[in-house]
Amino acid sequence: MISLARVPSIFLDRGVASFSVESIFVMNYHILSDDERRELAAITWWHTIPVGWDNDKKLVFTSGKAPAYDPREFGIPDDLRGKTVLDIGAWDGYFTWACEKLGADVTSIDTTREKGGNWGGTRGYEFCRRALEAKAKLVYPLSIYDLPAEMHGQFDVVLNFGVLYHLHHPLIALEKTFLATKPGGLAIFETAYDHRNSLLGASLWSLWPNHEGDPTNFFYPTITGLKNALGIYGFTDCKIHRIRGSRRNFLRKAGRFVMTARRPL
Ligand SMILES: C[S@@+](CC[C@H](N)C(=O)[O-])C[C@H]1O[C@@H](n2cnc3c(N)ncnc32)[C@H](O)[C@@H]1O
Repeated sequence: MISLARVPSIFLDRGVASFSVESIFVMNYHILSDDERRELAAITWWHTIPVGWDNDKKLVFTSGKAPAYDPREFGIPDDLRGKTVLDIGAWDGYFTWACEKLGADVTSIDTTREKGGNWGGTRGYEFCRRALEAKAKLVYPLSIYDLPAEMHGQFDVVLNFGVLYHLHHPLIALEKTFLATKPGGLAIFETAYDHRNSLLGASLWSLWPNHEGDPTNFFYPTITGLKNALGIYGFTDCKIHRIRGSRRNFLRKAGRFVMTARRPL
């Protein structure tokens, strides 16, 4: 974890602790049937998730474009037994399965699309849920903007991963994330961010529509911009846990980081 008082340490690229990818997922594996293999192959995957065995009982992974990440790098507590988790924008459920493996009762939400988003939809989620015999509940379609009152104050941990910069109204999403979090609970934000202006300490949400050719990209906060916006809605104790894309290229426009925040009791 990096203290916000030492934000210049964004020059650091944090190392990845070694971990075994199968250790972070629900592990009710079975030998995948031919139908399951065909379904697996027909889905466009972002994440690399072990979903079952081949006939030789070797693990079969989804053909993700992203490598498997260690959830410990993302500020997710090591032990979630007896805890409730809301995974906003769960997509193929990578972090949902990781939290369930850590013992949580997970609710996942996603929406159909916001201006062309939702690559792959929830097919990957539904496949993994069956293959892993996971218990997480998917509420779909449900936008973070429409979070119902019965979900307010319900979750010990709320994940808002990879969603903020895809939204037209990211501040509404911050407020809804606060409302979903139990008093005393933890919210975790993973987002793309404005790297150069963060180095200058600016408090900004830069509007870069179509950044990197993706029509679903809009707002890129600076580190201070996100921290200040979280403060508006009542979050405290903001900490950075993971920063990517800074040290090797000082001029790089965008990177990614994770920030945790507490809803006070
Ligand atoms: C880049 S993916 C991130 C997926 C996952 N959370 C992760 O970090 O790997 C963004 C996800 O947010 C979802 N999303 C977009 N707008 C949303 C909204 N208004 N409410 C909830 N989810 C939304 C998209 O459908 C997509 O599944």
